[in-house]
Amino acid sequence: MRVGIYGAGTIGSVHARVLAATPGVVIAAVADSNEGRARTVAASVEARPAADLEALLALGLDAVVIAVPNVLHADACVTALERGVDVLCEKPMATSVEDARRVLDPVERTGRVYQIGFNRRFAPAYAGMRDLVAGGMTVFSGAMKMNDGDMRNPPWFSNPAVSGGFIYDTGIHLLDAARWLLGPIHTVRCLARSSCYPDMDDAVVLLATASGALVTFSTCGHATWTPPTERIELFGDHAAVVTEGFDRLIHARAIGQPAVIQDFSTLPWEERLGYVQQDQAFVQAVTQHRTPTVTAEDGYRAVEVVAACYRSAANDGMPVVVG
Ligand SMILES: NC(=O)c1ccc[n+]([C@@H]2O[C@H](COP(=O)([O-])OP(=O)(O)OC[C@H]3O[C@@H](n4cnc5c(N)ncnc54)[C@H](O)[C@@H]3O)[C@@H](O)[C@H]2O)c1
Repeated sequence: MRVGIYGAGTIGSVHARVLAATPGVVIAAVADSNEGRARTVAASVEARPAADLEALLALGLDAVVIAVPNVLHADACVTALERGVDVLCEKPMATSVEDARRVLDPVERTGRVYQIGFNRRFAPAYAGMRDLVAGGMTVFSGAMKMNDGDMRNPPWFSNPAVSGGFIYDTGIHLLDAARWLLGPIHTVRCLARSSCYPDMDDAVVLLATASGALVTFSTCGHATWTPPTERIELFGDHAAVVTEGFDRLIHARAIGQPAVIQDFSTLPWEERLGYVQQDQAFVQAVTQHRTPTVTAEDGYRAVEVVAACYRSAANDGMPVVVG
């Protein structure tokens, strides 16, 4: 399987390395508007550098990884899909509902594989939480938080014209996780403010799921990097399940019973964060011509939730029905 990498920055180089080590995969080329980066990352995986997406696609690829800044995702994905190339796109699918719909259309029309980079779904701590919930725990309420230590790196991160806004970049991971764990999100109420950056780098959200669960979510971009930078707590009938970053999964089954703690902290970080499993799942979907584990609809629904958060925030926390 011949893969191209579009975007040779932080995460593009991770995909290049992980995919190059996956049996059956050859990285054909790496493109970046920064020539030096394209050359360096290409050399590290014995690929050739390419000038842009067109030059990449001209090489006759089976699949492309889209790892350029957020606002560029939709156009790049549409171009690749229309050319008959399967796509693994970093989150977010797009930075507006309209643009996300523009991507859904060619996915549905062409039948190409499109997977969105919600790596947490493959990370052992998160996958373990999902197994426990799917295994019969009724969740009534929960609390989620996800912080970035700062928004300085990469430089476009704090510019909403490129990132789409802080929640499109960072919060979207756990908003997707909420839907994956608990089912469709029905209503959001969101307050957001700009605290340390011009973008709204603080947001507090109340989520009500279609199943009736009530979940709080707080996220900020100026927290320091002291762990855990993210955490999910879900509460059932005198039971709780908690993730501490990617490192630990804690399951308290009942009052008076010892909690079961699973520790993943010694796994190699690319597995602990789910990148290896995510990219391998993509390769399987492409080679077996089947629907990927994380679909275009998952990408689209997450964008809908983020858009609803911004709409609510613009209206003083007014409840907004998602979709
Ligand atoms: N899933 C995750 O855990 C995760 C982690 C980090 C980043 N991301 C996502 O991955 C994407 C890239 O993030 P990053 O942190 O690697 O950013 P980055 O800035 O390190 O890398 C982006 C690269 O794209 C290149 N680029 C910019 N404009 C371009 C253009 N028009 N054509 C070609 N190349 C262009 C830049 O030169 C840079 O090398 C973002 O969408 C981000 O949200 C996901």
